[in-house]
Amino acid sequence: MEVMNRYVTAKNYIEGSPKESDFEIKCSKIVLSAEPGSNDVVLKNLYVSIDPYQINRLKSYSSSQKTSSYVVVTIAPGEIISAYGVAKVVASENPLYKEDDLVVGTTRWADYSVLKASEYVLRKLNSFDMGFPLSHQIGVFGFSGLTAYAGLFEVGKPKKGERVFVSAASGSVGHLVGQYAKLSGCYVVGCAGSKEKVGLLKEKLGFDDAFNYKDEPNLESTLKKYFPDGIDIYFDNVGGKMLEAALANMNNFGRVVSCGTISEYTDPNNKVPPNINMHDMIYKRIMIQGFLATDFLTIFPDFLSATMNLIRLGRIKTLEDISTGLESIPQAFVGLFHGAKANAGKKIVTLVEN
Ligand SMILES: NC(=O)c1ccc[n+]([C@@H]2O[C@H](COP(=O)([O-])OP(=O)(O)OC[C@H]3O[C@@H](n4cnc5c(N)ncnc54)[C@H](OP(=O)(O)O)[C@@H]3O)[C@@H](O)[C@H]2O)c1
Repeated sequence: MEVMNRYVTAKNYIEGSPKESDFEIKCSKIVLSAEPGSNDVVLKNLYVSIDPYQINRLKSYSSSQKTSSYVVVTIAPGEIISAYGVAKVVASENPLYKEDDLVVGTTRWADYSVLKASEYVLRKLNSFDMGFPLSHQIGVFGFSGLTAYAGLFEVGKPKKGERVFVSAASGSVGHLVGQYAKLSGCYVVGCAGSKEKVGLLKEKLGFDDAFNYKDEPNLESTLKKYFPDGIDIYFDNVGGKMLEAALANMNNFGRVVSCGTISEYTDPNNKVPPNINMHDMIYKRIMIQGFLATDFLTIFPDFLSATMNLIRLGRIKTLEDISTGLESIPQAFVGLFHGAKANAGKKIVTLVEN
C-alpha cells in the first residue's frame, strides 16, 4: 500500500539557538512494504524522543559529528531526522520482527520509518515492558535512564554519605541522576531554571536541596553555600560557567561526570574559560570523565531490570513532558534550549491519534 509520509526536516544548518522556523514539515510517498529478502522494516512511529544532542547533528560542523557511529552523524538540511522512538511494525523482512510487534529503537521524526537493514537497532518489547506506559521506553527505560544510571554508577561511583551536585536537574537525565544518588545514600543538590522546577526537585523527587541558577549572580559562592563541605561528585549536564563554579568547589578525589554541555550547544562563547585552577585539580586529585551512554550497552539489561523494579516499588519517580502531533516536534525541540517552565523531565512527542 502506498501512503503519504509526513516528516520533519531542517531548512538549513542550525548555528546558534534553534528556532521553529528552522524546520518544516514535508511529505513524500512511501510504500508500506519491505523489499523481499532484505531485512528491511517499515514502522508506524508512536512516540519519538526529543533530545538536546540533536542540535549538534543539525550544525554544519560540530566536533561530536566525528566521534562515534550512527547516533551523532550530521543531518543535512532536507534529510529525514532519525531519532530514538517507540513504533509498531507495519512490514518486515527481518524474521525477528513481525507485523504489529511493538519495538523501541531507531525511528524518524516522521509518521513512518522506512529502515534499511544497516540503518536500525531495535528491541522488541515484551510482556515485562507492557506493564508500563510505552512512553517510558524512550525516557526512564531508554537512553535518558541509561545515561543517568551508567554516568552515576559507572563513572561517578557514588559512596554513601557523599555530596552530589546535579545540573539541569529537572531534565530527562538529571531528575533520574538525583534519585539514583539519593538511593545510594548521598546528599543531593540540584539546580534548575525556574521556581517551579526547583519546587519539583525538593517536593516531588526527594532532592535534599535545589536552587534556580538563573537567580544566582555568583555561582561559585552559591555552590559554597549549598556545599559547605565541598562536592564529591558533580554530574555535569551543562558545561560552561556552572562547570567552572563546580570545579572550584570539588573535594579531594572528587569526580566530575561530564555528561553534556547544553549551555554551550547554542552559544560557542560560553565555553569554560581557561582559568580553571589546574594546580587545584592536581593536588585535589580530581577526575573529570566524559562518557557516552552507548559505551555502556553491556549493562543495559541490569540497568533495565533494576530501574523497572525501582519504578514498580515507587522508589523512583519519572517525569515526562509529552506533546501531541508531528507538527509539535519543532516547538518541542526548540523548547529544550529555553528551559524555563517548559519540559521538566523527558521531552517526548506522541504521534498516536486519539
Ligand atoms: N553523554 C551521553 O551519552 C548523553 C546522553 C543523553 C544526554 N546527554 C546530555 O545530557 C544533558 C541533559 O540531557 P537531557 O536529555 O536530560 O536534556 P534535558 O535536561 O531534559 O533538557 C534540557 C534542559 O536543559 C536546561 N538548559 C537548557 N539550556 C541551558 C543553559 N544554557 N544552561 C543551563 N541549562 C540549560 C533546561 O532546563 P532549565 O530550565 O533547568 O535551564 C532544559 O529544560 C545534555 O547536555 C545532553 O546533551 C548526554
